[in-house]
Amino acid sequence: MDKKKRVFSGIQPSGSAHIGNYIGAIRNWAAGQEGKDNIFCVVDLHAITVPQDPKELEENILETAKIIIAAGIDPEKSILFVQSDRPEHAELAWILNCHTQMGELSRMTQYKEKGEGKQSVSAGLFDYPVLMAADILLYDTDEVPVGDDQKQHVELARDIAGRINSRYGKDTLVIPKPTIKKEGARIMSLSDPKKKMAKSAKGENSYIALRDDADTIRRKIKKAVTDSGSEIVYGKDKPALANLLTIYSAFADEKIQDIVERYKGKGYAEFKQDLAEVVVQGLAPIQARLDDLDNDPGYVVKVLADGAQKAAPIASATLGRVKNKIGLG
Ligand code: AMP
Ligand code: TRP
Repeated sequence: MDKKKRVFSGIQPSGSAHIGNYIGAIRNWAAGQEGKDNIFCVVDLHAITVPQDPKELEENILETAKIIIAAGIDPEKSILFVQSDRPEHAELAWILNCHTQMGELSRMTQYKEKGEGKQSVSAGLFDYPVLMAADILLYDTDEVPVGDDQKQHVELARDIAGRINSRYGKDTLVIPKPTIKKEGARIMSLSDPKKKMAKSAKGENSYIALRDDADTIRRKIKKAVTDSGSEIVYGKDKPALANLLTIYSAFADEKIQDIVERYKGKGYAEFKQDLAEVVVQGLAPIQARLDDLDNDPGYVVKVLADGAQKAAPIASATLGRVKNKIGLG
């Protein structure tokens, strides 16, 4: 039998997870769980690249783990752990740092966006993609399911791994590849379809959090900006509508073409009303599981502790192999 593909992905414990995280990433992790060897990580060391309140960070780590489980990751099938529970990430990141060019990092668009207009930017924010490369490479990862905004970072991880392999031998690191779905890989803000939906966005009407209640979801979708015109059509010149149709399609599990066909001759108001119900219904089972997890915090703590244990032998084997190859044995 062929060896199962190793899948690794991560999410930051900052702010509230939103439907962009779900559609672009977590939903796909859950759907691909069978038949693969999966590792998912709450990347707290990435979160501290920007200032965090210690108490909030601690709460957000547990909350993010709950979201992942509620969205369908089964801790019996997948390893789920917290990045800072495994010291190998930071150690491999240092080694990779010494094989990464400043120029490569200054070309990363997420860094440019996050650092833009800020007076002080941490070295950690600049170096963030190298830590992400360490996360991925530490587990001999084949596939990295992410949203579109992370593609450039996964490509950097490939470049760094390729460089290390050509210098120290091709069996040093596994070269990963990003797996990005065609639809839903970049869910846009509800208030500005030119910006991606983000946790840190100003104005909470711009995103739907996975914990939002039905009335909040209805209100936010009602307020969502639309394009000029009145028909429900899908096209590049109608970015707001294209985004809403993508969200509809993801939650209803229906093709965009079929949705457009069904709304022929109907207006925005009706479409938005139905979309709100589709999202409310789509999130209901996740929210029900979140309620259960809220009532059993000890369970999540145990899952994360077990996850860190299960990740340990994989991480230490890779780190040991790399150190041997580069003369740090
Ligand atoms: P983050 O919240 O930045 O840690 O992202 C976690 C995962 O969600 C990553 O795979 C991102 O690419 C994905 N993601 C974040 N925002 C969006 C979005 N607006 N649309 C689609 N995927 C997203
Ligand atoms: N940088 C990713 C984001 O902001 C999160 C992340 C950290 C990640 N390490 C990873 C994603 C490894 C995939 C694989 O979304």
